[in-house]
Amino acid sequence: MAYQNILAEIRSQVLYVTINRELKLNALNKETLAELADVIAFAAHNDEVRAVLLTGAGEKAFVAGADISEFAAYTAEQGEVLARNGQNSVFDAIENCPKPVIAAINGFALGGGLELAMACHIRVASENARLGLPEVSLGLIPGYGGTQRLTQLVGKGRAIEMITTADMITAAHAEKIGLVNHVVPAAELLSKVEEILAKIKLRAPLAIASAVKAVNASLLFDENGFETEIREFGKCFDTNDFKEGTTAFLEKRKPAFLGK
Ligand code: COA
Repeated sequence: MAYQNILAEIRSQVLYVTINRELKLNALNKETLAELADVIAFAAHNDEVRAVLLTGAGEKAFVAGADISEFAAYTAEQGEVLARNGQNSVFDAIENCPKPVIAAINGFALGGGLELAMACHIRVASENARLGLPEVSLGLIPGYGGTQRLTQLVGKGRAIEMITTADMITAAHAEKIGLVNHVVPAAELLSKVEEILAKIKLRAPLAIASAVKAVNASLLFDENGFETEIREFGKCFDTNDFKEGTTAFLEKRKPAFLGK
């Protein structure tokens, strides 16, 4: 897949996406966001892709935020459009992707970078990663879902402290408060994510999509998550994967799921 600001390739049913603006610490400019929106839509619909691994180029940054140079002269109206478009096409699209998206946080995850990682379903960080939402030091607040997703992940008190102080926290601290799932030495980051992906790839793809949808519904105010779970649970019974999973269990063999 040919993009200017990201690298994207499918290997062993995983779409590897690398934000590739190393000299700008992978800051999210408009083109990068448009390419991310495109690649996530591709992942959602392509049958070969079972999961997505999202990381940043180089050893210093995952993503050091939205590209500050682009919005320095924006009005209130332009700012609102920026946040709304970004949330719809990238951040919410990642959260609602039926394929699990794992962030491999390989360095700074700041502002829009941490918001991007928080939109992912699972976060694994390298020991050198630093995470924060420093927007108030620019006279802004997080605009890509950060106030909502940080609160969901770490609770209101910790979220307000991180956002109002603009403090960067270490990967170890992020793991302690539930902001990342695992912390590993930098050299082991991709292999740790691939270890998680290897397990996900053995499971039933449609059941995984239903599980993501039902878990996401737990955080929606306009939806009853228990109802979503009941519906998604019921849908699973009509899949070939369910028949394969139960038959394989009864025949004492490993299932071969086709995502149908
Ligand atoms: N937007 C635009 N450019 C950015 C950027 C961002 N969010 N973050 C880093 N860059 C650019 C720098 O301007 C610099 O470009 P230059 O070499 O052309 O001058 C390059 O990336 C390297 O960054 P630099 O600041 O020199 O690296 P550092 O090691 O001294 O500091 C950070 C690293 C992450 C602490 C620092 O870059 C930073 O604070 N970035 C902004 C973080 C932020 O506020 N994000 C939220 C945005 S809403």
